[in-house]
Amino acid sequence: MLNHHRFTDYDPEIEKKVEQLLSQMTLPEKVMQMVQVCPESMAQDDLEKQVRQGVGSILNYYSPAGMNRLQKIALTESRLKIPLILGNDVIHGYRTIFPIPLAWSCSWNLELVQEAAHIAAEEARANGTHWTFAPMVDIARDARWGRIAEGAGEDVFLGEEMAKAQVRGFQSPLRNGRSLVSCPKHYVGYGAAEDGRDYNTTDMSERTLRDVYLPPFKAAFAEGAGTVMSAFNDIGGVPASANSFTLRQVMRDEWHCSSMVVSDWNSVGELIPHGFAADLKEAAKRAVLAGVDMDMMSGAYANHLAELVEEGSVPESILDEAVRRILRLKFQLGLFAEPYVDASEGAREILKPEYLETALALATQSMVLLKNEDRLLPLASDMGKIALIGPLADDHHEILGCWHRIGKDEDTESVLEGLRQVLPDTDIQHVPGCDLTGEMEPDFETAVSAAITADVTVMVLGEGELMSGEAHSRAYLDLPGRQQELLEAVVATGKPVVVVLMSGRPLAVPWLAENVPAILQAWHGGLRTGRAVADLLVGNANPGGKLTTSWPRSVGQVPIYYSHKNTGRPPEGRGTIQFNMQHRTLYVDADHTPLFPFGYGLSYADYSYSDLEVVTPTITADETLIVTAVVSNTSDVAGTEIVQLYVRDLAGEVTRPVKELKGFERVTLQPGESTTVRFEIAAARLGFHGLDNKYKVEPGAFQVWVGPHALAGLEGSFEIQ
Ligand code: GLC
Repeated sequence: MLNHHRFTDYDPEIEKKVEQLLSQMTLPEKVMQMVQVCPESMAQDDLEKQVRQGVGSILNYYSPAGMNRLQKIALTESRLKIPLILGNDVIHGYRTIFPIPLAWSCSWNLELVQEAAHIAAEEARANGTHWTFAPMVDIARDARWGRIAEGAGEDVFLGEEMAKAQVRGFQSPLRNGRSLVSCPKHYVGYGAAEDGRDYNTTDMSERTLRDVYLPPFKAAFAEGAGTVMSAFNDIGGVPASANSFTLRQVMRDEWHCSSMVVSDWNSVGELIPHGFAADLKEAAKRAVLAGVDMDMMSGAYANHLAELVEEGSVPESILDEAVRRILRLKFQLGLFAEPYVDASEGAREILKPEYLETALALATQSMVLLKNEDRLLPLASDMGKIALIGPLADDHHEILGCWHRIGKDEDTESVLEGLRQVLPDTDIQHVPGCDLTGEMEPDFETAVSAAITADVTVMVLGEGELMSGEAHSRAYLDLPGRQQELLEAVVATGKPVVVVLMSGRPLAVPWLAENVPAILQAWHGGLRTGRAVADLLVGNANPGGKLTTSWPRSVGQVPIYYSHKNTGRPPEGRGTIQFNMQHRTLYVDADHTPLFPFGYGLSYADYSYSDLEVVTPTITADETLIVTAVVSNTSDVAGTEIVQLYVRDLAGEVTRPVKELKGFERVTLQPGESTTVRFEIAAARLGFHGLDNKYKVEPGAFQVWVGPHALAGLEGSFEIQ
């Protein structure tokens, strides 16, 4: 693929055009360029009036013809004829809907995720969208938080890599030389919401902010992301959408980032309920002084910025900087040269067969085989009858996931349809058994009868798409409604049961994990969920996905993540004897370990790891750690293993995590094949923010592992001098 468009690169020709246009703008015109409105949320005449006044942007608008009408007003009836920029939430697909990002992150396939983002960009741009409010790069370690569905899970390193892959994909060269601009979000720390409730307070050390939550944004900007969205949450008392430390000191002064900052929906207006502004005028002042360039939907800028400048509270130079970033974007996107969209081309561009093939590949690689006792899977091809039970067994909607926007049910294929495609001669009896929420009277009896008369039962259980995503956090992580009862009734038949789980988050399902022999986590897998599940169940495809979040045994363990600190009384240690008792960081009523760890996932193949070699046992801070290991496929099935490398910094000037992912590689191995996997990790990536909150690589002893997941692997050691 050609190099993607780096919106952060300097182009003198564009700068000249920006300055020339800016010099003509009045104060009210500058203010209006910093305003973003949603056509669905306002009267048409008010919308058209704001377009004539030179409003900068619209969002959440999916009509190419409507977009052309508004663009025509902007270009013929406003004074300076500055084109609108249209932003939409193209998070995991436009019309070709891919697995939710938490799912596709489990593929660990950066190229395929990049290609999915590229396809989304082709479909979106061809239909008039210029700007996607993605990738969502919030690190999430709390499964209660609904928006864990939208990101790449708990890990910083994987989060950085997934952020970069999506920026490359969204900003890749498109048909007719066009491009789309990305928008990493939500800047910053949004995933650390207390008690997992969306929009809730976050309060963390600057070190945690710098070591955990900021790095994926820095990676996205380094990859050329042209915009960024400021978040709803307050960070230690200062709301992210008026936080000059994160927006100016970190982004502008330390990172020299030129990307345009758009607030999240009304997050400027929400400075008032935050108790950070007395009124909308003060909210506008605090947000613009802190560094928010464009105000999404609050009205604060439209109603108060001009007055704030005229009274001397806000320097006009701050507006000039913001308007420069907005105009620069519009020139970079070619909107002055090509402001209109060809609606017929847009219709041709969507749902292309090759796009649907990519959606199938990504769905298949995103799904995670969590258990396969006695190799119950893949299903034998000569089965007479399958009982297909559960509220999601023939679902065409929930599988679209929480940010499907204009994705359509009719474009999807259900698990039932997928199984019928791959097992045309098998009798498949479909019984919903219950609904997702428990509102409908369940029919356990029919389900049990179907299971008793079947060779195998496949149950499709889990969450609906609106049980995760924005504003949809959960206090419990079990199967919703009456599904657990349905599950236990079917398992009680003693017949073989396979469970396909669908969710937007890790689920705390210890009974299921204990009592069901085979479990496939399918997430909300997008348009091709049905065929992907079917191919995996019958062995047309070999599962290879691996979890990017730790799965808890109970909600009481949350937040749970592998890259935790060791504490002074680690669970695995001897603890400290006091009052004749061993005191360690444990529960008295539960196992503290995850139900399934970060990086975990099974295959129909078997892999072994051997011959770990630390090629460079001693390195300096500007050298490279080289580690190799041999990975073998000891089975008779070809497969792809996601090999992971973790390190531990044994002692630092601040406490360090017990493990940190620093490398991974997807390795495809034929039956009996072995290969040497070589990792080269720059020592510069092994640092942290020290006592002074400055990034440093500190000399000292390290452990290193190469293995299949966060809790296993061959161990070695090295030293940074
Ligand atoms: C929403 C979300 C944000 C989205 C924006 C525009 O509230 O927080 O992720 O991009 O508004 O729809």
